[in-house]
Amino acid sequence: MSTATVDNNHSAALDAAESTDAHLITVTLRVRRYNPEVSDQASWVDYKLEMDPKERVLDALHKIKWEIDGTLTFRRSCAHGICGSDAMRINGRNRLACKTLLKDINPEKPITVEPIKGLAVLKDLVVDMEPFFQAYRDVMPFLITKGNEPTRERLQSAEDRERFDDTTKCILCAACTSSCPVFWNDGQYFGPAAIVNAHRFIFDSRDEAAEQRLEILNDRDGVWRCRTTFNCTDACPRGIEVTKAIQEVKRALITRRF
Ligand code: SF4
Ligand code: FES
Repeated sequence: MSTATVDNNHSAALDAAESTDAHLITVTLRVRRYNPEVSDQASWVDYKLEMDPKERVLDALHKIKWEIDGTLTFRRSCAHGICGSDAMRINGRNRLACKTLLKDINPEKPITVEPIKGLAVLKDLVVDMEPFFQAYRDVMPFLITKGNEPTRERLQSAEDRERFDDTTKCILCAACTSSCPVFWNDGQYFGPAAIVNAHRFIFDSRDEAAEQRLEILNDRDGVWRCRTTFNCTDACPRGIEVTKAIQEVKRALITRRF
């Protein structure tokens, strides 16, 4: 009885493996490679891979790294769309590699994978995120209150919470900022992600530093540089209405109502 069960399980596993194999397709991943220790020029390298179309671009990158070329360098951590570390340009568009299925990006043609734009490339798909995080730190992304130590939790109505709900979803992947033409031309611009994270506190009824944050964003490199191209909204893997948040910050600067 138990042997039969094992055999049946084994056979089921083999069937599953065979049926999986039957769905494998050949995918060409065209990756922008750059190693400053070898050459100061980046170059495209093609990798032909046998993949299930339901796998993700991140799986294809893992396959290259683990089975073909261990020097391929990219960031990833959670592999489930939460940590924000694997934003890259896939077929010319900013996306998270862990959330992009091969079948959704026409795997019959070479799939291009390159680093996000506007930040210095350190190696292969890894960029220097420091300017991005500096802009984030500059808008003071934390709750600020003045000398009113609470004796109980700070209460907030559902309506007040709703005002900044969308911008709480940010995972700091930089897909928005690095898709913005203003940021490409001038890396001094705070960029959409910093403004999104300022928005999250400016419109929080418990916070008391909205004026300070608005003044920071009133700077020549602040919110007025936005040209409302909507690239940021299109790029955001969390579906945040980034352009709308930027518009709300602009309006708050004019009306001083938040
Ligand atoms: S707003 Fe969206 S695209 Fe921009 S950093 Fe946050 S999650 Fe990424
Ligand atoms: S690896 Fe964490 S978001 Fe993709």
